Amino acid sequence: MEKLTCKKLMRMWREYWEQNGHTEIKGASLIPRDNTVLFTTAGMQPLVPYLMGQKHPLGTKLFSIQPCLRTNDIDEVGDNRHHTLFFMLGNWSLGDYFKPEAIRWSWDFLTNPKWLGINPDRLNVTVFEGDENVPRDDVSAKLWQECGLRADQIHFFPKKDNWWEIGSGIGPCGPDTEIFYDTGKPKCNEHCDPSCDCGKWVEIWNNVFMEFNVPTKGAPLEKLTQQNVDTGMGLERVVSVLNGYSSTYETDCFADAMATLERITGKKFDFSKDYARDFCVICDHIRAAVFLLGDEQPTTPSNVGQGYVLRRLIRRAVNCARRLNIDSNALSEVAVAFINYYKDDFTRFVEVEPFILQELQAEIQKFAKAIDSGIKEFESITKEYKAGDTLDGKNAFRLFDTFGFPLDLTIDLCRERGINVDKQGFDQAMKEHQQLSRDKSGAMFRGGVAEAHDEAESVRLARLHTATHLMLGALKRVLGDYVEQRGSNITPERLRFDFLCDHKMTTDELTEVENIVNEAISANVPVVCESMTPDEAKASGATGIFDDKYGDTVTVYTMGEYSKEICGGPHAKSTGELVHFKILKEESSSSGVRRIKATIEG
Ligand code: SER
Repeated sequence: MEKLTCKKLMRMWREYWEQNGHTEIKGASLIPRDNTVLFTTAGMQPLVPYLMGQKHPLGTKLFSIQPCLRTNDIDEVGDNRHHTLFFMLGNWSLGDYFKPEAIRWSWDFLTNPKWLGINPDRLNVTVFEGDENVPRDDVSAKLWQECGLRADQIHFFPKKDNWWEIGSGIGPCGPDTEIFYDTGKPKCNEHCDPSCDCGKWVEIWNNVFMEFNVPTKGAPLEKLTQQNVDTGMGLERVVSVLNGYSSTYETDCFADAMATLERITGKKFDFSKDYARDFCVICDHIRAAVFLLGDEQPTTPSNVGQGYVLRRLIRRAVNCARRLNIDSNALSEVAVAFINYYKDDFTRFVEVEPFILQELQAEIQKFAKAIDSGIKEFESITKEYKAGDTLDGKNAFRLFDTFGFPLDLTIDLCRERGINVDKQGFDQAMKEHQQLSRDKSGAMFRGGVAEAHDEAESVRLARLHTATHLMLGALKRVLGDYVEQRGSNITPERLRFDFLCDHKMTTDELTEVENIVNEAISANVPVVCESMTPDEAKASGATGIFDDKYGDTVTVYTMGEYSKEICGGPHAKSTGELVHFKILKEESSSSGVRRIKATIEG
């Protein structure tokens, strides 16, 4: 029989469900429509409203091949089975068929020689054993027996194993029946069964019978108005186990990327070698980066949200390239290998290939500049460390803050030397950094600063805030002391600042403002924060609107000769963190008030 490949399994999946009256849902984005999670982590995610009862335009029997992205195990990527991006094959009944059809179709697809042709002796299934709310799922067990499974191949497990719900614990849920492939390895002990992770059993497919809903966290189960089926099969995993591979990286979807790395490094991919991990991390992360950049809603590297995940993936891959002694630009060749592999199924890649490569290259280059000095710093910090020592959170934070090293990268570097990382200490240092630059009295800017979603985002917002101060100082120098703030709004992408000014600013004036701010950034002056009385602040020449909203003390932020303002923070520690300042737009806001939008690189 022709070897099973990921391409072939995708083709079979389409053919099978089309033959059985299902319609394909195409092109679901990695970026979910609602923003409760950063990424699509399961094929069912785009279907939640329809599982809840809304009518789906494509009908009640659907299937998909959905790229999913999970970052909770990002540190584990590089072993033989963890991935960030993977493909989930799924079929759904939205209030249409239920247990009998779902189970019979699963059985047919898995065992029929026309499809996967798995020997039934290799299959074991698990079924929900029941609890105080939902009875034991004897219906599914009986259906599996009717298909041909022996009683000893059917296992009843509790809620922790055989119940599926979305990570948040809210929404549609239900008991599931999971299908395991027996790899043929000996049992690790006499009790070894599919709940054991010794490696004998590999879960290949999950059928969830979603007929319940949890409306709010911790609320009792409610019956949905319809009975749904939601199934999920991990594409790379199934291809890998059915071929008897020792890792998912041996499947065809990684073949060209691996061959590219072998050619560039002159090394053969081999799990027994210590560089195998770098090969795997590069393949996993660059593939994920290609899909994020090539998505219908493209993510680009940034310090916030999805963009920050992408940045972490690319930066970690750059570090693996460094370890393999190859030029990080080689990562683009790996990206091309993936684009070529996937472009038949993801036709939009043909069109967006230049964009993917350009963005990838830009991020690689940006980081390649910082990585060498960061590594030097890392080496000097850890010079005296022995295996088993722990890198403290403050230093891990410094590497992040000053050299752009995401925590995962620092963990990687430490792993090489057998050093641990104080992750909690890192979070703590991040919090302290934020608090240090935060003030309790005059929250003049606070209202205008967007709520940060994570640590990287708050650092970015603080830096944009510092840029706003520098820009106001520069505006006063260029236009005159009359310039006064009228409004400020900061999002992770840009700052927006409204100020008194009676004319449209000329190009020369704007360039001058930019130059002054960039001069302040190059000077890398510290941002000094002091508490004083409002009178003292006034006497020191600090700007700000002096009214009685300030209490007994105010906080004044000073940035060398460039700015002195009463403000509630938070700010960067020094102006160099901003890297580069650029005005994006100058326009009218209202009569006598102009508006500037600007951004920074840091
Ligand atoms: N929702 C289930 C899973 O993700 C089946 O699709 O495993």
